[in-house]
Amino acid sequence: MYSIEVNNLTKKFGDFTSVDSVSFTVKKGEVFGFLGANGAGKTTTIRMLCGILEPTSGDATVGGYSVMKEPNKVKTRIGYMSQRFSLYNDLTVEENINFFGGVYGLIGNELEERKKWVLSIANLEGKEKLLTGSLPGGIKQRLALGTAVIHKPEIVFLDEPTSGVDPISRRNFWDLINNLASGGTTVFVTTHYLEEAEFCNNIILIDAGKLIAQGNPEELKTNYIKHKILEVECERPVDAMEILNKVNFSPDISIFGNNIHVNVQEVEPAKKELKRILEQQHSIKVIRIDEITPTLEDVFIHLLESPTKPSSKEGAINDERMPNIESENKL
Ligand SMILES: Nc1ncnc2c1ncn2[C@@H]1O[C@H](COP(=O)(O)OP(=O)(O)O)[C@@H](O)[C@H]1O
Ligand SMILES: [Mg+2]
Repeated sequence: MYSIEVNNLTKKFGDFTSVDSVSFTVKKGEVFGFLGANGAGKTTTIRMLCGILEPTSGDATVGGYSVMKEPNKVKTRIGYMSQRFSLYNDLTVEENINFFGGVYGLIGNELEERKKWVLSIANLEGKEKLLTGSLPGGIKQRLALGTAVIHKPEIVFLDEPTSGVDPISRRNFWDLINNLASGGTTVFVTTHYLEEAEFCNNIILIDAGKLIAQGNPEELKTNYIKHKILEVECERPVDAMEILNKVNFSPDISIFGNNIHVNVQEVEPAKKELKRILEQQHSIKVIRIDEITPTLEDVFIHLLESPTKPSSKEGAINDERMPNIESENKL
């Protein structure tokens, strides 16, 4: 039933604990999202799960093998797309495919057949001789995914595969991820783009090496946010927000488009009070007040207790507390 079972997995570098006693399970054939800011410990965890970095303590079973005791067997069960795409820029598209096919032991007809498949998912049919370094980011990313699963592994680890790629390519890439999962592959994917969590069957969130939330998108929204969110449509929303802030109506009031979002404990009393303040005291007409479902972004921001919302329009977690050391390991 489970492709991956993680038990108190821990990695220390000297005195510094990069991954702190993390436990979770990943079901076969699901898209499992691993979220966290830069430096949270995502890459370190993936490298332990791939059998290329020895845990300090704890263990994980990946594809039926222990990463502590049988890391080389783990490697035969998985594909791995490392954070900065595992491709060689100075090789042609075909040379990269041949190289990774060779690494994974493919030869002859099987290699030819899988090469065709990789070229088709990367939209590179007839372009085998192009230099990989000359490809646009979105195409390179698809080629990297193709080569990571050229040997049809049962589990694939994708480390920030969509980082630095334009939004349309990112969207298309998620279709590709979903196709892989529908075909039975377990996809373990890290991202720091909050909105991408919505595309995952299950999610864990880590912060400073510790697991701080887990569940499917619905569970995260209901289990971790206890307050309610009201969306208020009214005249002069900026003035209205200032008024509500001045009377400390709620600790969290923000403008979303032309509306105001207000966190409250109880919906009905808050609605009445809000109308009273805006309409009666300040003659600002309230057009409607609706309770809205929180987005995953609301949940994560709330959990990470970030004093400010992410500045990026794309909703990346913006946390530069720790430097991000990354080494390029290829399987
Ligand atoms: N080889 C290493 N030596 C020392 N510290 C490391 C090493 N690899 C990672 N770290 C530290 O562990 C923390 C987690 O890093 P990483 O797993 O790369 O985070 P993420 O992938 O979530 O951005 C960071 O603070 C990083 O600096
Ligand atoms: Mg990383």
